[in-house]
Amino acid sequence: MIKQAIIPLAGLGTRLLPLTSVFAKELLPINGKPGIEYILDECIDAGVTEIIFIISKKKEIIKKYFYNDNFYKSIIKKKKDPRIINEYKKILKYKKKIKFVYQNKPLGTGDAVLKTKKFIKNRYFLMLLPDDLIMKKNCSKDMIKLHKKYKASVMASMTVKKNNVNRWGIYSISKKIDKKNFIISDVIEKPNTREAPSNNAVIGRYILSKDIFKILKKQKKGKGGEIHITDSIRTMINNKFLFVGHKFSGKYLDCGSMDGYIKSTLEIAKL
Ligand code: G1P
Repeated sequence: MIKQAIIPLAGLGTRLLPLTSVFAKELLPINGKPGIEYILDECIDAGVTEIIFIISKKKEIIKKYFYNDNFYKSIIKKKKDPRIINEYKKILKYKKKIKFVYQNKPLGTGDAVLKTKKFIKNRYFLMLLPDDLIMKKNCSKDMIKLHKKYKASVMASMTVKKNNVNRWGIYSISKKIDKKNFIISDVIEKPNTREAPSNNAVIGRYILSKDIFKILKKQKKGKGGEIHITDSIRTMINNKFLFVGHKFSGKYLDCGSMDGYIKSTLEIAKL
């Protein structure tokens, strides 16, 4: 059963400067709703009951967004506005499910995952990267179904332009299961065009097993001096852990870059 999800939120968001100089990118509105709420809705709709936010001291504004009770209570007392009451109820629903852990140094996604070790209860858990929005189809839900069928780790995948492979983790595929799913034989973090074994990229949805923590503890820094989850996943695959890739069918929106963020608002408005 996948009941817990983790969301790394300690990144600095430099690709979205100046918007992120005083604000968390995950709270930026996309068609009137903070990006993080789309991610939370995906988790909850997929049956997740506890969501662990990995934040940093610099990103405490995210915690404040969910813990601003006194403010809401005083406004509601004065105004009794049904819209505000409704919005506050929504925030309270999210808050009940969220736990916070801290990653104060931005050492990479692998390091962020390691911070959740103590809190993970079941063997498998879900991770969502908040820069990647997937609309129209619940990718996490589909991945959980696959996980149940194959008793394996699962990662989301999308084909990208060949000259763009150095922006992503890139898969080697050992066997196609069907049109949408495949067995992963290797994964490389941000390879150059010559190194890249394919143009199938890792998108930010992962079902991982607790076994990854042992490997993460020993994980050396990789590309850009960061501890990458991709590098530990690579070790797990080499150690014969089964990883299934899932080509999701929803609409992908990249909210982590300025260009992508602007497009996301326009695209979601059209849905
Ligand atoms: C991270 C992962 C990368 C993956 C990407 C998906 O990169 O390290 O393997 O392809 O997310 O969005 P980042 O976006 O943090 O640079």
